[in-house]
Amino acid sequence: MKRYHPALVSLHWLLTFMIVVALFMGSNILSQIPNDNPEKLLALKAHMITGFIILTLMIARLIVRNVTEKPPLADAGNALLNKAGVMAHYLLYLLIFAMVGSGIATALISGLPDIVFNSSGVALPEDFNDILPRIFHGVIAKILFAMIALHILASLYHQFVRKDHLLSRMWFGK
Ligand code: HEM
Ligand code: HEM
Repeated sequence: MKRYHPALVSLHWLLTFMIVVALFMGSNILSQIPNDNPEKLLALKAHMITGFIILTLMIARLIVRNVTEKPPLADAGNALLNKAGVMAHYLLYLLIFAMVGSGIATALISGLPDIVFNSSGVALPEDFNDILPRIFHGVIAKILFAMIALHILASLYHQFVRKDHLLSRMWFGK
């Protein structure tokens, strides 16, 4: 077994795209629109729907990961680094679920499901800044961003320094 299962490969790249878009849009667009701007509802709706699709695909990914065969552990040339690599992958899963969880908690506390999806007409709170899960949502976003950067650097280290063709393990082929 030289590669991950094609279903896991597809989910890895589809989710990479969706998570990067959610991170970018969340910090650069959504959180910059004041809550009294009428466009905020649409931005929140798009963000929340994206978040739910990410959650569904992440659950599917977790299942696929557990029922399909995986290639042997990649060797970074050092036992400690190998362990760190395994932990980093678990941490990525954890951070993404924590993003979704803190997003949902923020939405529930501020009554967003009714305001955004049932057009209840109730005004949005002035902002979400005092809501504890919203604070976590922002902090976890930064940690996730840093972990993704580290993950990319690690895969480039494997590919170009150790020259072990790691990228092909997360791509399609025989
Ligand atoms: C949102 C961004 C990303 C996340 C959350 C993420 C997460 C993960 C996770 C959790 C794994 C372990 C396999 C699994 O359980 O699914 C993995 C494997 C992998 N990822 Fe990513 N990834 C991201 C983006 C990228 C990017 C941009 C690259 C390439 C530069 C990349 C390259 C790889 C490679 C080569 C593997 C296989 C590693 C191995 O064989 O041990 N990933 N990724
Ligand atoms: C992996 C999925 C998600 C990612 C990557 C993500 C990303 C982000 C980011 C980067 C921000 C801005 C943080 C900041 O600059 O402090 C944000 C804000 C927010 N997100 Fe998410 N989010 C996700 C899922 C969700 C979900 C599922 C919900 C609700 C159901 C949600 C609700 C919110 C809300 C209410 C805000 C605050 C907007 C504001 O301050 O005006 N998010 N999100």
